[in-house]
Amino acid sequence: MSLQSDSLISGKGQFSDHERAAVYRVIFERRDVRRNFLRKPIADDVLARILTAAHHAGSVGFMQPWDFVVVRQRATKRAVKQLFQQTNAQAALRYEGAKATLYRSLKLEGIEEAPVNIGVTCSRQRGGPHVLGRSTVRDTDLYSTCCAIQNLWLAARAEGIGVGWVSILDHGALKQVLGIPRPVKVLAYLCLGYVSDFATQPDLEVAGWRARIPVEDLIHYESWGKKAPSGGRKSDAHHEGLHKNRGRGKNKTGRGAGSVEGQSQG
Ligand SMILES: Cc1cc2nc3c(=O)[nH]c(=O)nc-3n(C[C@H](O)[C@H](O)[C@H](O)COP(=O)(O)O)c2cc1C
Repeated sequence: MSLQSDSLISGKGQFSDHERAAVYRVIFERRDVRRNFLRKPIADDVLARILTAAHHAGSVGFMQPWDFVVVRQRATKRAVKQLFQQTNAQAALRYEGAKATLYRSLKLEGIEEAPVNIGVTCSRQRGGPHVLGRSTVRDTDLYSTCCAIQNLWLAARAEGIGVGWVSILDHGALKQVLGIPRPVKVLAYLCLGYVSDFATQPDLEVAGWRARIPVEDLIHYESWGKKAPSGGRKSDAHHEGLHKNRGRGKNKTGRGAGSVEGQSQG
């Protein structure tokens, strides 16, 4: 593809400042998108670029375990939306009081609004019984497929296309809707479309559901629990400089990130 040869080759495999900034920009401005989809269709060549980017992800033993089921038909989206509604109603029952009210107010999918939906699968038997590097950690095929999804997400963002990941679905039922064979695992159901606007913060952060954890809290030096010596550079400040549009790490309720709850100290 000409896109590759034009922009990636500058000097001895180095990225220019401009190219490097573009990579960080797409990372920081990627969003999970569930609203503001436009009716504008995604052209076949654009979709092909995005799927080719996904296909160029790393994979264990070069297994390339992914497939992509591209859905444009309204009836299929309707059927998937019904699956979402069933599962989401059950999910809402897990919360109580104000949290339940907040959960029910969240928009957690854009299945019917998005012009294109994509089911991403992982064929766990691809490459035969001995895939290089997969003998001890069997789930590395799933990790590989997630790498492909992230590539897709970022490439779409660079094309001005929003992607929303819908995981609130019964995957057995979804497989029936999409005709996916029994041994193939569904990994993701994605909703894609051009959008009127990309939010600068995650929807869940804006809604006050959860805030971004400062990256310093998550970095350990040499062994678990050893923190940076005082005076170490604040990684967030680095991020601020790279990403001028970013919110200031607070949601609309004014709260910053909480503690890293649920994380074992042992
Ligand atoms: C594996 C995975 C599953 C997700 N499932 C859902 C989902 O079912 N519904 C939803 O609204 N967002 C879903 N998301 C999106 C996350 O809520 C979102 O990534 C997170 O809040 C951070 O926001 P951002 O992606 O805009 O940075 C999912 C994301 C991932 C990576």
